[in-house]
Amino acid sequence: MGLGMDDRFNTIAGWTLFGGIVALGLSTLSAHYFLADKHERPEKMGYAIAGVEPEGGAGGAAAVEPIANRLAKADAAKGEAIFAKCKACHTIDQGAANGIGPNLWGVVGDARAEGRGGFAFSDSLKSKAGKWDFASLDEWLTNPKKFADGTKMSFAGLADPMDRANVILYLNSKGSNLPLPAPEAVPAAGAAPADGAATPVALVGDAAKGEKVFAKCQACHTVAQGGPNGIGPNLYGVAGDAIAEGRGGFAFSDALKAHKGTWDQATLDQWLTAPAKFAQGTKMTFAGLSSAQDRADVIAYLNSQGGKLSLGAAPAAAPAAAK
Ligand code: HEC
Ligand code: HEC
Repeated sequence: MGLGMDDRFNTIAGWTLFGGIVALGLSTLSAHYFLADKHERPEKMGYAIAGVEPEGGAGGAAAVEPIANRLAKADAAKGEAIFAKCKACHTIDQGAANGIGPNLWGVVGDARAEGRGGFAFSDSLKSKAGKWDFASLDEWLTNPKKFADGTKMSFAGLADPMDRANVILYLNSKGSNLPLPAPEAVPAAGAAPADGAATPVALVGDAAKGEKVFAKCQACHTVAQGGPNGIGPNLYGVAGDAIAEGRGGFAFSDALKAHKGTWDQATLDQWLTAPAKFAQGTKMTFAGLSSAQDRADVIAYLNSQGGKLSLGAAPAAAPAAAK
């Protein structure tokens, strides 16, 4: 519990001004806080979240499936049941009052920490510009304090990836109804994609498209200069940088550290094709990007964020085959 009594009382004092659910009573609310915080921790630490490396799992058995894949099999009714944990602080129906947290009607796809009937958001969450897409909600609900250090949301997070998908699907059904992202192809561990072995990188990447691809990485990585490390390291300037070094002291796996050298276009392409193949025992529980174009695009995007590689035009002799 990172939250001091003063903070809690300030929050509560602010909240009473809104005059929402006073009837609940402060002691009940405090009880909810503690329950909400303690509940999630113990039993489910086996997942690859919060920087905890899964121990001794068979390959990627404990890997967190991409949010798109989890959403495809998620259940809004189950999400509604999970939302019981949020109700101590949040309403969800259209036009309902703000409580300790803001009303969440239509929050999926909406701007972060804006509007919501004038709710007094923390500066910490306000500094996370952008919209709540599925991936950022997944990250937020995994560990709110990790997403926005200094958030007012004193909730430990939902450790179970399917719980998060279910509750996000439920949130989406309340005033948002955004189309769900297409599930990613998750190649079986060890089964290298046909183009994985020795294809020299010949595709020209498009950094703007790569930024969209990077949505898949954001559950674990920031890329802005000075951004925090999360489940994975901050990636500012990684293109052209030493493999598994620096990055604000991020605790890399021995598997990745064993790779000497720098991240150039070819090594990044191999890595992003199949991380577990590039570095057996890596902590990056990500199946890989099977599309060579997606890889080229995301590498171009990474390079645009403080990178040092000269990614030029396509080689004249080898016209880029559409993959
Ligand atoms: C102990 C109270 C509390 C609990 C429990 C809680 N929240 Fe929150 N929530 C807050 C507060 C306070 C904020 C505002 C955070 C800030 O400003 O830093 C917030 C913010 C949010 C936001 C961002 C809203 C916006 O407009 O940017 C979302 C989404 C959210 N909560 C979802 C949830 C979900 C889903 C759950 C349950 C799984 C949950 N919260 C549990 C208090 C809580
Ligand atoms: C599920 C979390 C997760 C996802 C999703 C993820 N990564 Fe990672 N990434 C990690 C972790 C953890 C490491 C550290 C790996 C290690 O130490 O073995 C890492 C390491 C890296 C590195 C090496 C950094 C260095 O300094 O050596 C790069 C580059 C990278 N990731 C790029 C990406 C890109 C691009 C994507 C999306 C296409 C992505 N990652 C998706 C967790 C993730």
